[in-house]
Parts: sequence; C-alpha cells; structure tokens
Amino acid sequence: MHPRFAKPFETLSAPLQAALRPMLDEEFNASFSPAQIAVLKAATGLEDRALRLALLPLAAACSVAPISKFFVGAIACGLSGRWYLGANMEFAGPGLFHSVHAEQSAISNAWLGGETGISEITVNYTPCGHCRQFMNELSTAKTLKVSLPDDLSELQSFLPHSFGPADLDITDALMSPQAHDELKLESDDPLWQAALAAARQSYAPYSQGYAAVALQFEDGRIFCGRYAENAAFNPSLPPMQMACAHAVLNGEDLGTVRRAVLLENGNSPISQRDAAQSTLKALGTVELEYQAV
Ligand code: THU
Ligand code: ZN
Repeated sequence: MHPRFAKPFETLSAPLQAALRPMLDEEFNASFSPAQIAVLKAATGLEDRALRLALLPLAAACSVAPISKFFVGAIACGLSGRWYLGANMEFAGPGLFHSVHAEQSAISNAWLGGETGISEITVNYTPCGHCRQFMNELSTAKTLKVSLPDDLSELQSFLPHSFGPADLDITDALMSPQAHDELKLESDDPLWQAALAAARQSYAPYSQGYAAVALQFEDGRIFCGRYAENAAFNPSLPPMQMACAHAVLNGEDLGTVRRAVLLENGNSPISQRDAAQSTLKALGTVELEYQAV
C-alpha cells in the first residue's frame, strides 16, 4: 500500500479495511472495477453512495496541497460502472491558477481510463463555481448527480441559468470520443507516440488547439494529459496539469519526472507551450520537449 493511504486506512471500518487491503497493492491505479465494488459492498453492507462516501478519505489522501493544506477528494462514477478517484493538486511557485481541483482530477482519471461519461461525482466538499462550470461541459452534464456527505443533487440545480457549449453552437461534449487523426508525427519514441495518441483524443472545440503532454518518470512509467477545453474558456484544463494529476493519482512523485513532452496542433490561435513550461519549472530542472504538428 502506498504510504499516503496508511493513516486514512486506519480510520475505515474493519470490514472495509479487510476487503480493501488486497486492492491497494502496487498495481492500484486510483480506480475500482465493478467486481471490486461488488466485493466491497458485500463485505460492508453499504450501498453505492454510502460506500463512495466511506472511500473518500482515500481519494483525499492523494491530494497535494502545499499552499492551502485543504485536502479535497472526489470519486467519479464512469458509465462502465468503474469508480475513479481524484484529488486536488497545487504547485508551490507558479500562480494559483495552475491548480487542479479534485473534481477535475477524478474526471480526468475517468476520461483517461476510457470512459465516455460519468453518472455521478462524490466529493467531500461542495464543488466551487469553477468545477460546476467545468462539469457543465461533460457529455452527461444534463443528468450528472453531485453527491456530498449531506446532500445529493443534480449538477443543474447547482448551476441555474447555466452557460455551456450550446451557447457557442458546439454540439460536442467533454468525454465524448475524439479522434483528431489529422495530427501526424513520425517518431519511434514511445513518449512522443503516447503524446500523439493523447493529443488525438484531446477536446478543443473552441480553438482546435488539440494538445497533450506525456511525462516519463524515473521508474520508466509514462502518464499523459489531454487538453480539455471549456465553453467559458477559463476553466479549461491544460494538458500538463492533467498529466501531473494523473501521475500523482498513480503514486508517482512529480520530483522524479525525467522527460516531459508537449505535442500540439500548430494550426491553432493558441499554444500550451508557455503555460506547460512554467508548470514544469515548479517541478525541477527537466526541460520541456516540444513539437507543433
Ligand atoms: N478545491 C477543490 O479541489 N475543489 C473545489 O471545488 C473547491 C476547491 C481545492 C482547490 C485548492 O487546491 C483548494 O481546494 C483550496 O481552494
Ligand atoms: Zn473546484
């Protein structure tokens, strides 16, 4: 079990601990399969929502919050039935706007896990306005439920008179499958190949600035972040942020990044380059490798 789980694990009920322990092994990727969820429900007698609330301390344990020391955890329910953890992430050094919210982290985890939508998100604090707007971009925004320790509501009731993709005549939605296969790159380098595959799946209907970051760590593992735009522009999630959040959920230490690459559409009015470089600077000395295609 990753050391970050040790303390919150002790606060869980004995039956939940016993059923969970084998799942939190080296291979744990911050998600639970439907079969694992069934085991946890049988062991604890808890229903889905109550079980997710009970698991929130594990999600919050993945938080990296050196500035606020405010640890937010979230669990997104993928349409496949799999559950995905998420946690907030802050960077000491660059501006606060580099932060990733727990909801964004859980949604990214689900999207990178192959989900095309989420039905419910469970959070230990009420989602801020930025997250409400971010979630209004999702393929399931009209039906998405937000589950809090003391409330269960529809996202739409948190966001009356909402602004969204339809206001900009966009019929696409975040988490709906993307295939920007017009992006091409000739390279045998697995890191660039990973970035290319992720950029093709990025969501940028407003700028066409399809982009992705791929990070390689000391242990050889690779984690990607796809760019995710928003109709209101500002709550868009940059690819470097998503890659960092996903790596942290998978137990990586961002201090052990060995290579970082950004691939983006060179035919767009925007670029992720400066923003990605400035986030990366907060992590250490790795230089951003860059290609516009
Ligand atoms: N935070 C979230 O993760 N989700 C929310 O919706 C509320 C705020 C995080 C962001 C920042 O890392 C810390 O909590 C303080 O705002
Ligand atoms: Zn938020």
